[in-house]
Amino acid sequence: MSKRIFSGIQPTHHLHLGNYLGAVRNWVKLQADFECIFCVVDLHALTVPQDPAALLKATREVAATYIAAGIDPEKNILFNQSAVPTHATLGWLLGCLTPLGWLNRMTQFKEKAGKQRDNAGLGLYSYPVLMAADILLYHATHVPVGEDQKQHLELARDIAGAFNRQFGEEFFPLPEPQIFGAATRVMSLRDGSKKMSKSDESDYSRLNVTDDADTIALKIKKAKTDIHPMPESVEGLDGRPEAANLLNIYAALSDKPLAEVIGAYAGKEFSVFKRDLSDLTVAVMGPMSERLNQLMADPAELDRILARGAERAQEIATPVLNKTYDLMGL
Ligand code: ADP
Ligand code: NA
Repeated sequence: MSKRIFSGIQPTHHLHLGNYLGAVRNWVKLQADFECIFCVVDLHALTVPQDPAALLKATREVAATYIAAGIDPEKNILFNQSAVPTHATLGWLLGCLTPLGWLNRMTQFKEKAGKQRDNAGLGLYSYPVLMAADILLYHATHVPVGEDQKQHLELARDIAGAFNRQFGEEFFPLPEPQIFGAATRVMSLRDGSKKMSKSDESDYSRLNVTDDADTIALKIKKAKTDIHPMPESVEGLDGRPEAANLLNIYAALSDKPLAEVIGAYAGKEFSVFKRDLSDLTVAVMGPMSERLNQLMADPAELDRILARGAERAQEIATPVLNKTYDLMGL
């Protein structure tokens, strides 16, 4: 059986350096060895309130970011989730097989719903079932997942197993996590104990793929550090999460080992390192944001790319849904 990847990101806010280094950059590498389906998961975005115009724009922008980062929409399938209604249909079928107890264990729902559990939407609660449908609909064999999605992928495997036992042995392959050698976890520029996130209220906490060179330089200049000079060794990063984060970003963007970067700046002033980090970030992200702007200037072309991707996705999804119907007696 051929190896097939499914992955997606929600179209909420701009993508940031964490999304790039932790996800999209790795997807670019996967294109060579896998059949890849990259989705803009707009149905998932609806699990929290969205402004319709902003959602539509963000959907195009995430698609444009994928392409600007180097994902080829001809070689791979690139589309937005709502354009293939089969996702929601399979989500319903799988939801009927999913015990509430499994969903009650999901830590992300507990975090996102907080104390307002009764006010959280049903969609936020059943989100992992829709995510299982996204993956199983294409008989995806591998899913690149960050730490935060591991539990949801486990659930997708459990749901596939439950379906197979009840309706047909091995109809849905159990998707495997696709792990990357050095998974980069990018932390907030304002607080080294929090990950860089789309939902952080401070825009200074993250480097967006849409930021221009001046904005990048300003955000890095303002990034939190401490009073000590640059560390002399990897051990010297203990208890210095902000320094560790900036050095890790440098290492990831330059494709150099962390120890080598630390060696190059040992004992120097932070301001010197920060200036170099700005230049490096601009060198990597600048061409990407330029390409992103070009793509966003032609929304009709982006819509055509997404529509063509949706057609190709639907060609795979329809027979899988039909077979699922047959197996379930529909
Ligand atoms: P979504 O809500 O669409 O999943 P996220 O921003 O939470 O959006 O994550 C999208 C992808 O980017 C996931 O694969 C996630 O692991 C990765 N990601 C998000 N934030 C970071 C970060 N700070 N560092 C590394 N990877 C990240
Ligand atoms: Na997430």
